[in-house]
Amino acid sequence: MATYALVLFTFLALVSSQASASDPSPLQDFCVAYDMKSDVFVNGLVCKNPKYVKPEDFFFSGLDKAGDTSMNLGSNVTLVNVDRLAGLNTLGISLARIDFAPKNGLNPPHIHPRATEVLTVMEGTLYVGFVTSAPEFKLFSKVLNKGDVFVFPQGLIHFQFNFGAVPAVAFAGLSSQNPGLVTVANAVFGSNPPISDDVLAKAFQLDKKTVDWLQAQFSNSN
Ligand SMILES: *[C@@H]1O[C@H](CO)[C@@H](O)[C@H](O)[C@H]1NC(C)=O
Repeated sequence: MATYALVLFTFLALVSSQASASDPSPLQDFCVAYDMKSDVFVNGLVCKNPKYVKPEDFFFSGLDKAGDTSMNLGSNVTLVNVDRLAGLNTLGISLARIDFAPKNGLNPPHIHPRATEVLTVMEGTLYVGFVTSAPEFKLFSKVLNKGDVFVFPQGLIHFQFNFGAVPAVAFAGLSSQNPGLVTVANAVFGSNPPISDDVLAKAFQLDKKTVDWLQAQFSNSN
């Protein structure tokens, strides 16, 4: 009997710890983030007293402006998450504008650990895709034109690439107030402190010289 109860308890614990597909639903109309430096966290940020909430708490301005794509890989993400729009706190949603330089502007392979992303192209053309988990590692990819929409499921590696001759602009909704970002190359080759080059040489089937060179490219420690 005790064994049965233990098995049942373990099963229930496992089931209830399954990750939900988006942020948990709020327990009030809104919970405008109040004190960004608070030492208290409630799986999100502490709420401002609703009596003092203003329209500005739900407002952000500036997504009409293009991000500068001249640096890095030729893309620039302007993310409106809870850090920039306090009213998003507990609502499980955020918004991004992504600008791409012409001729190979790239938003490199990355993961949002906490969000599904739905993206639409406003200007230009993008080659986009995501890869499923093991064992298939299947690539789903598509060339998007203005007005097209594509969805990147939560937690999967995805990318966007502007192979066109003109700038591209996309807007994306994400199912978290704080989607998080893991850029694959930077996380693997640019961790701080670095992962042992023995590990990376074996994992990527590269010689250690190549690994050291890659680590220098992505170094994040200075
Ligand atoms: C993105 O664009 C903004 C606005 O032009 C700029 O301030 C910022 O430095 C750019 N970020 C990167 C990574 O280039």
